[in-house]
Amino acid sequence: MKKQFPKLKNKAILSPMAGVTDVAFRALCKKYGAALTCTEFLNSTAINRKNKRTLEMLKKDKSEKPSQIQLFGSNEDEVVKAAQLVSKKFDIIDINCGCPAWKVIKTGAGSELLKNPKQIASLIKKLNNSVKNPITIKIRKGINDKTTNAIEVARLAEKSGASALAIHGRTQKQGYSGKADWEIIKKVKQSIKIPVIGNGDVFTPEDFKEKLDFSEVDYILIARGAMTNPYIFKQINDYMKTGKYKHKNKIDQFFEYLTLTKKHKTEFQIIKRHAINFTKGMKGSARLRDKLVKIKDLKELSKEMKDFKQNEI
Ligand SMILES: Cc1cc2nc3c(=O)[nH]c(=O)nc-3n(C[C@H](O)[C@H](O)[C@H](O)COP(=O)(O)O)c2cc1C
Repeated sequence: MKKQFPKLKNKAILSPMAGVTDVAFRALCKKYGAALTCTEFLNSTAINRKNKRTLEMLKKDKSEKPSQIQLFGSNEDEVVKAAQLVSKKFDIIDINCGCPAWKVIKTGAGSELLKNPKQIASLIKKLNNSVKNPITIKIRKGINDKTTNAIEVARLAEKSGASALAIHGRTQKQGYSGKADWEIIKKVKQSIKIPVIGNGDVFTPEDFKEKLDFSEVDYILIARGAMTNPYIFKQINDYMKTGKYKHKNKIDQFFEYLTLTKKHKTEFQIIKRHAINFTKGMKGSARLRDKLVKIKDLKELSKEMKDFKQNEI
């Protein structure tokens, strides 16, 4: 029987981000209305070898229902083995076919898999035969502008039993430069029947609505827009329902995140990174960030964040 991608309550999904989507951050996005959250990409081989740091990243929050894990790897057996190990804990298993980072593509994983769509198809089939979870993949537009093969990959993925497909509208070569191509996302949506999740350059509720209306995708993934403003999920959900939305002070968002880090025992360096991300774009915050990078403990970090908010008002 075909495994179904669950029907989600809202349309905005938190996109996986290495070093950003830790469990406490995901719980915050869930609290603000993210339809789905996903771990950052995890190395299949590291899971199989029970690498301590990687196992730490397998934590999930009770609110993450359904839950999703993203795996990467180029060796089929390693990815399948890792999927089997995590299959009871996570509802959906996503395979990263989009990462453009050299340290990943040099191993044949991430977006490098787009050079061999048959390998992606074979991996999806094998995963489907090995675990009960719906299998999803996250791809890019293609390798470069000359080899844009997202439609071919999407059709093959659907035929091989993928339950949904997410597409970032940039090529491997582009990295994060230029603009995401929502034309190709729209074409992919028109080419397959499984849910298509569009991705790229949504920073405001207005961007979200415009891209959703244009492409008619089922859902949209948000990465950088959520990294600096996790409250974007509430803003989008409100905007889609009422045409209006409010802003929430970023320092207040940070303190809500901080409460969740206590529950999940998040390490200080991760908390500090979020403090830096959350304050981006705030008036006069460059000086604050200069201070934050040097801070070594949580007490001091909290004090600087509180002082900044007081001076802001
Ligand atoms: C810091 C950072 C880390 C990322 N890590 C991952 C990852 O682990 N897995 C993945 O599929 N994509 C990863 N991405 C890509 C995003 O999920 C997303 O596809 C991309 O940023 C485009 O979406 P945006 O325009 O909403 O930012 C990462 C992006 C950023 C900025």
